[in-house]
Amino acid sequence: MNRQDTLIILDFGSQYTQLITRCVREQFVFSQQLPWNTDPEVLSRLNPKGIILSGGPASVNSPDAPKLPSYLPNLKIPLLGICYGMQLLADALDGQVIPSMEREYGSANLIVSKANALIPEGMHSVWMSHGDRINKLPPGFEILASTDNSPIAAMGDPDRHFYGVQFHPEVKHTSIGVDIIRRFLFEICQVSSTWTPESIIKESINQVRDQVGASRVLSAVSGGIDSSVATALVHRAIGSQLDAVFVDNGLLRKDEPEQVIHSFREILGIQLHSVPAKDQFFSDLKGITDPEEKRSRIGNRFIRIFENQARALGHPKFLVQGTIYPDVVESYSHDRAQTETIKTHHNVGGLPEEMNFKLVEPLRYLFKDEVRKLGIALGLPDSLVWRQPFPGPGLAIRCLGEVTPERVELVRAADAIFIAELNQAGLVKKAKEISQYFTVLLPIKTVGVMGDQRTYENVIALRAVSTDDFMTADWSRLPLELLARISNRIVNDVQGVNRVVYDITSKPPGTIEWE
Ligand code: XMP
Repeated sequence: MNRQDTLIILDFGSQYTQLITRCVREQFVFSQQLPWNTDPEVLSRLNPKGIILSGGPASVNSPDAPKLPSYLPNLKIPLLGICYGMQLLADALDGQVIPSMEREYGSANLIVSKANALIPEGMHSVWMSHGDRINKLPPGFEILASTDNSPIAAMGDPDRHFYGVQFHPEVKHTSIGVDIIRRFLFEICQVSSTWTPESIIKESINQVRDQVGASRVLSAVSGGIDSSVATALVHRAIGSQLDAVFVDNGLLRKDEPEQVIHSFREILGIQLHSVPAKDQFFSDLKGITDPEEKRSRIGNRFIRIFENQARALGHPKFLVQGTIYPDVVESYSHDRAQTETIKTHHNVGGLPEEMNFKLVEPLRYLFKDEVRKLGIALGLPDSLVWRQPFPGPGLAIRCLGEVTPERVELVRAADAIFIAELNQAGLVKKAKEISQYFTVLLPIKTVGVMGDQRTYENVIALRAVSTDDFMTADWSRLPLELLARISNRIVNDVQGVNRVVYDITSKPPGTIEWE
């Protein structure tokens, strides 16, 4: 990768490493995260303008703790050690790190009494989380700041451009965090802010062209943000060399297939092959109630259809994948120098390796919000850019029990009402307040009364959650008036439903989906 200004974040296992990477990128400077023991040649090839050493859970004095790579100080590149990263610098450059009598966790008052390049003078609230502390500065360093419990809370060697802070500038509780990162980037490393959506698009276009040459490229689009942006980007690069395939499995939400087809063909001008395959999927799902069996049958059918399409299109050599940066960084382990391992991605339903595609992954270095910005810059409509996550098996796993066209239609109709009401209430704008919201058709019937008639009909459950990472989630406290209106509308407008319930289970112990 040939970028002008790159910052490297060496990861020593801190839970905040991705935050550091993001902080740098928020200043429009490209940053890439590598494991602490990365091969020096790999690192040098990236030609970094500065290196940030992350925090980490170890103590530098423990025998198997990760060490400062010995080549680093000789690279003559500015270094910033954060927490454990600072202790590593002190330890490796002949200072001294000792266990602290007073551990420091949480907020602390930082006093900066002397002007310096890294931290503004004055008193600031900073976020601490450490057990060890620096007892003796390494030669060439001076103290930049202190707190009650850390006399050396920040240190610097302005001649070599080596700096260390005991606190965490990357977390928002550190009031001057962004200022410190900016000073490191722009004054100490002297980088420029050139990493913008436009420059990313330009660079990706060149890379895709270099990679694929005149070969044909295939892409499977589902309507999800990652595969949509990846496809749009590759299309910008190679135009009609790209064939996009959309499999309409009959399990999408109301109007979604039409929206996807319209967006790709009419708005983006992409050659999209739409494969109507509803009947095949429903026939595979007949009589099946087990969730994993549903997933597996849907996945297998998708692969068979995709294989047929690939064959019909002359089996293109390359396949676009919407792999994004968290998939990449979460796939390396801290004790391995190899970073380029790809987590098997299930975006396109887990295509088998025998299909033998070479992967084109233009979003490999981007976080989700960056993918969104790129999508906007590429002209993708809001409905794709802000689409809430939707599982590959679609409504099949929101139809508990057997999946029939009638039952899917029922949950789809209820879902459309729920979505419309939440939108109307302004609660889902830009997927912030509520992260995922949908309805579930339960496999039971209950007794009700409508007019003077006894009814014995279906139950719809409403699910709405907020989450940052989808690993844990909290159920959304929707206004009761809104719930009342949604329940009324569903029971009145969706034939075959006489009861609506609201799921008030968080994850854990529940999962977000019901299957
Ligand atoms: P759970 O239900 O495990 O879901 O809390 C976490 C997130 O993953 C989505 N999900 C899936 N996505 N294929 C997918 O592509 C699946 O089989 C699948 N199952 C769950 C779910 O919608 C939520 O966002």
